[in-house]
Amino acid sequence: MKSPTPQFISLEGIEGAGKSTQKKALCELLLANGIAFIETREPGGTPHAEAIRSLLLDHTLEAPAAKTELLLMFAARAQHLEMRILPALADGLWVVCDRFTDATYAYQGKGRALPLEWIATLETLVQGDLRPDTTLIFDVPVDVGLERAGKRGDLDRIELEDWAFFDRVRRGYRAIAEANDRRVLWFDASQDMESVTDAMYKKLMSRWGFSCRPN
Ligand code: TMP
Repeated sequence: MKSPTPQFISLEGIEGAGKSTQKKALCELLLANGIAFIETREPGGTPHAEAIRSLLLDHTLEAPAAKTELLLMFAARAQHLEMRILPALADGLWVVCDRFTDATYAYQGKGRALPLEWIATLETLVQGDLRPDTTLIFDVPVDVGLERAGKRGDLDRIELEDWAFFDRVRRGYRAIAEANDRRVLWFDASQDMESVTDAMYKKLMSRWGFSCRPN
């Protein structure tokens, strides 16, 4: 039986974890099972929030202070929620979002060492009780992730951070997975992409009662 209420799904992981490939595979699974959905991302997802994203990722500008970075992530999120995510859920559409607030806990909280209480306060302010229903975390060793990301070409301001930063982010995601074992599904993304997709399909088909696998 399909889930009666539209699901809010987020995908997370350090750079090079293969999120984009798995997001595409997830969308194919939803299509094969007749689910209507929107695909979006953070920071971004609306013209205003995409403008904030450009500011955040531009490495030619002065680097924002950690607090500025945190507030801009939530500014973009407030816009995205109000203009795109909440209306979609209200229309009965599922939402597939490339990153959400777990990324703030991992990158700004662990990566930049900002107090997690600040993030929790902003989370409540911007989201109220809204949290993703399902979060997929793709875990990959930092060396593997950075090597894959490096092959994609031009790196943005955050992708230019060092190994230790991404190691803190990775540990941050692990802590989130451990604290939220019902919401979070954890995948070893150091395997080849097809094996990760296969593991993801198995877990999600059982979670949502789907019967069709994409061809
Ligand atoms: P992306 O490259 O996966 O689209 O994500 C953009 C970058 O923004 C990525 O390096 C992670 C970072 N980010 C944060 O630092 N905090 C956040 O809250 C979000 C959503 C993304």
